[in-house]
Amino acid sequence: MNHFLSVEDVTDIPGLIDKTRVYKENPLKDLSLGRHKTLGMLFFNPSMRTRLSTQIAARNLGMEPIVFNIDKEGWQLEFEDGVIMNGNKAEHVKDAAAVMGKYFDVMAIRTFPGLKNREEDYRDKYINQFVKHAGVPIVSLESAILHPLQSLADLQTISENFDFIKATGRKPKVVMTWAPHIKALPQSVPNSFAQWVNAWGKAELVIAHPKEYELDQKFTKGAAITYDQDEALKDADFVYVKNWSSYQDYGEVKKTDTSWMLTEDKLHKTRQAKVMHCLPVRRNLVIADEVLDGPHALVKEEAGNRVWAAQAVLSAILKDRY
Ligand code: CP
Repeated sequence: MNHFLSVEDVTDIPGLIDKTRVYKENPLKDLSLGRHKTLGMLFFNPSMRTRLSTQIAARNLGMEPIVFNIDKEGWQLEFEDGVIMNGNKAEHVKDAAAVMGKYFDVMAIRTFPGLKNREEDYRDKYINQFVKHAGVPIVSLESAILHPLQSLADLQTISENFDFIKATGRKPKVVMTWAPHIKALPQSVPNSFAQWVNAWGKAELVIAHPKEYELDQKFTKGAAITYDQDEALKDADFVYVKNWSSYQDYGEVKKTDTSWMLTEDKLHKTRQAKVMHCLPVRRNLVIADEVLDGPHALVKEEAGNRVWAAQAVLSAILKDRY
């Protein structure tokens, strides 16, 4: 593996999921793999799980992770080529990325979309400019449009919890459902989840959302899409809950219909489905307390798996590159 920006960088998805499970069993088995290698972690936006789990993963491989909160501690960067830099941006990403590529063996970057200009966000220019200029492998810690480390941890979590379904010979039914929120959130998690489940091919994916929340078909192609949450939840084995803002009316919050919140009552329609969410989650707005605190919630296990997902990816990069 060279870069890790999306599922398209993975040649063997089941193999990578198996690797996450191997590291979960034996976290320090490759402790010398990353010795004397540094991981530069750049944050343009807040994070808890991604930041902590990736640092732990790097240390488990013997790497030295260095975190740089570039939004608060660095020079403001210019990302457009050919501009006259007479504003408040002190350094061009061409220069900053190239310099950081001399300090770090691998770089990992978190950026969010502006949610104002779809074309610009979907070019994913922040992370792609680092790919272009850093000269070292780049790992996405969530870009403007995708969150692949989250998705890998999600698939690990599903795979760990569907052994009993495999025995029946059927594919598990995974329902990704939109849920209400008060803020405009990115489409990166649902885009990425749909893309990974579709590419994996081991689950039946149904996406449920109100009419105004169609996602980019580039990522959802292969999934069944419905505007009827109750219908979607019928016989579900896994329910993946997530809010996202509108893709068509880009970045808008079209509806905060509270009836889309996942409740215990709704789970009765499922096959005792396990409930997933990438976290952070707003309780009693997105998912009810009774679900999050109940026996069906996998959210903490899912967040725990972020370590093994990051470790499997860093390990694949180290093995291929160094
Ligand atoms: N799920 C996730 O990416 O969490 P953080 O924003 O806390 O990193």
